[in-house]
Amino acid sequence: MYDNNPTLSGLKNIDESKQGQILFKEQWEESGGSRDKKFYIESYGCQMNFSDSEIVASILAEVGFAPTRDVETSDLILINTCSIREKAEETVRKRLRVFNIIKQNRPGTKIGILGCMAERLKKQWLEQEKLVDLVVGPDAYRDLPKLIGAAEDGHRMVNVLLSREETYADINPVRLESNGVTAFISIMRGCDNMCSFCVVPFTRGRERSRDPFSVVAEADNLFQNGYREVTLLGQNVDSYKWKNPETDQQVDFADLLEMVAQLNPLLRVRFSTSHPKDMTDKVLHTMARYHNICKYIHLPVQSGNSRVLELMNRTYDRPWYEQRIAAIRQILPEAAVSSDIIAGFCSETEQEHQDTLSIMEWANFSMSYMFYYSERPGTLAARKYPDDIPEDVKKRRLNEIIRLQTAISLQHNQADIGKTFEVLIERDSRKSDQDFCGRNSQNKMVVFPKKAGLKPGDYVQVEIHDATSATLLGRIQS
Ligand code: 5AD
Ligand code: SF4
Repeated sequence: MYDNNPTLSGLKNIDESKQGQILFKEQWEESGGSRDKKFYIESYGCQMNFSDSEIVASILAEVGFAPTRDVETSDLILINTCSIREKAEETVRKRLRVFNIIKQNRPGTKIGILGCMAERLKKQWLEQEKLVDLVVGPDAYRDLPKLIGAAEDGHRMVNVLLSREETYADINPVRLESNGVTAFISIMRGCDNMCSFCVVPFTRGRERSRDPFSVVAEADNLFQNGYREVTLLGQNVDSYKWKNPETDQQVDFADLLEMVAQLNPLLRVRFSTSHPKDMTDKVLHTMARYHNICKYIHLPVQSGNSRVLELMNRTYDRPWYEQRIAAIRQILPEAAVSSDIIAGFCSETEQEHQDTLSIMEWANFSMSYMFYYSERPGTLAARKYPDDIPEDVKKRRLNEIIRLQTAISLQHNQADIGKTFEVLIERDSRKSDQDFCGRNSQNKMVVFPKKAGLKPGDYVQVEIHDATSATLLGRIQS
């Protein structure tokens, strides 16, 4: 889920007839804003950050800023940042230096830092690192128009206030870089878990859930605009909880999933991320009841060893995790499960590392996001445990984890050869415009030759004839 590749989030051309871009165009015309100001935004980190950039684009559209892909001619350069690992922060600092060189040729241009690094370093950005004009935390995006105005008057502005209520529920995100078929909807913000390695509770604040009716309305709007898949996003979707203030009616995650799934059988529903301590059988049974809820669960294990899990403050142990996987296998036999894994957490022994390898095999993860431990200032682990695994050992353990996962993924995919899956066409494959690609319910990318009359957003039955560790190759069944 987390990667460090920047995505250039701007619109190529406002006249392009992609559905996601039409959404933007309408909003734009309604806003009546002047077209003479342009912003450029780059996003790093998790899907939630990419989703936040779409909220930012919507807020900026209302005050007359159009998105651009051309950083050199933009009036406002924004970078939506991630603090999860040190490397992610280094990448952002490098980009800021590049932006400052661009700014030298266009002195009126303002540079703003958004997201987790803004929240983590706050005023330090202005006091020590004179690289930015604006510092705006994840709960302060509504304040952007005011902050930009002040920056244009020559002030350097910070708003990093975290909120207990803000969910941006009423904001209709501008779909940036959209394929017009799949979109993210954020259903909650923040995190109350306090995993000892994780900076997120500090940068994104307390957990709060969004009004379910606004989630359903957003999904419906997407469907009406041609989208066929939504991914409900939260740091821990299983703890979604909303109480209707008028009726006292409670809505939990399983209820929300059902509400979205009932919109239309042609709208697929995915979600991320699940937490092993909170994932209920009720959610699994709801998934089983609806064909359009995808049979895929991202259930990060982090480590296969109970002592390490305790140090990580994950609040479950290995047997608990195994029991959750067993419940998935029983209730949803066709589901794929993926994971996040951390190598070389504080004091991890070789034997404990072996436990991580063994749970990967036991759980048969279809894929994993794998990292070595990176100490983050202010976290529980940074305060309590020495970061004592040497870097070369961390890297070697990570390599062993990656090598094993690649082998498991290959096997997992090869087991699909001969099967036929329903695939939602997303776009041309990257390698050939003669091929389409799309995902099956288990979230595996499937590549197959095009057939006349079909387009992104259509469902097709694809028979698999070959597989790599990352992709299934198939043919549309006639
Ligand atoms: N070091 C390494 N990986 C981390 N993650 C979170 N914090 C850290 C850290 N300090 C990983 C976890 C989490 C994913 C989003 O990033 O695996 O699930
Ligand atoms: Fe970090 Fe844990 Fe929250 Fe995920 S659930 S963001 S790992 S604290």
